[in-house]
Amino acid sequence: MIDRHAHPDASVVDAIIRSRRAIRFFREDAVARRVIEDILDVARNAPSNSNTQPWRVYALTGARKLALSEALRRAHDDDAHPPLRHMPDPLPDDMRSRQETFGMRYYGALGVPKSDLRLRSNVTARNYDFFGAPVGLIFAIDSTLTKYSWLDYGIFIQTVMLAARAVGLATCAQVSFARFQNVIADHLDLAPGYEVVCGMSLGFSDEEAPVNRIDMAREPVQKFSTFLGFD
Ligand SMILES: Cc1cc2nc3c(=O)[nH]c(=O)nc-3n(C[C@H](O)[C@H](O)[C@H](O)COP(=O)(O)O)c2cc1C
Repeated sequence: MIDRHAHPDASVVDAIIRSRRAIRFFREDAVARRVIEDILDVARNAPSNSNTQPWRVYALTGARKLALSEALRRAHDDDAHPPLRHMPDPLPDDMRSRQETFGMRYYGALGVPKSDLRLRSNVTARNYDFFGAPVGLIFAIDSTLTKYSWLDYGIFIQTVMLAARAVGLATCAQVSFARFQNVIADHLDLAPGYEVVCGMSLGFSDEEAPVNRIDMAREPVQKFSTFLGFD
């Protein structure tokens, strides 16, 4: 039944979704503007509430990316901005446990001990260099919109990552950029009333880097789903 209705490319879509990983070490190879336009051209098909399409994307490379990275790096080193509270503290227990496993595997792959705050800070700073990727994306949204439009945005961002994966490119979504809203607004001349949702590194994965091989486990379907009214 399912097979008869399946899209002929279903297995390709599955493979792309299943093999996408957050990549945090990139090769230097450039990515052409045309390729990024094609990725965004796929991603603009993402659904949004009442077709509002709340996304606004800035794509940076070369000197413009470097200038933003340097400004963000300075802001990070100055530590004058309040930390970004992007999750509640404490997190619900099950999520905190998954977050701790992620931290152990991530810092472990980089050989950074949990107790070494200076080295951990250097690891965080790599976010602002877009992990060495040739292209940095910044996603902005009209800040009058509510969490439901942010939901649209999440769908859009995943679609960007899958479209990139389909053409052999790797990505890492990065909420870390939201900490430095003002720095980014200055550099990109963000429209008034717009805020940063997150950034994204985009480029070719360095397959040899151990940090690109941390395979983050997912919970089985039964653990997060409730089925009602089925046989
Ligand atoms: C919205 C969002 C924001 C994220 N922000 C960061 C970030 O700032 N820095 C980072 O290194 N990874 C960031 N990540 C990557 C997650 O840590 C990663 O997706 C997660 O550990 C699961 O691993 P996987 O993507 O390889 O499956 C973010 C992911 C998402 C979806």
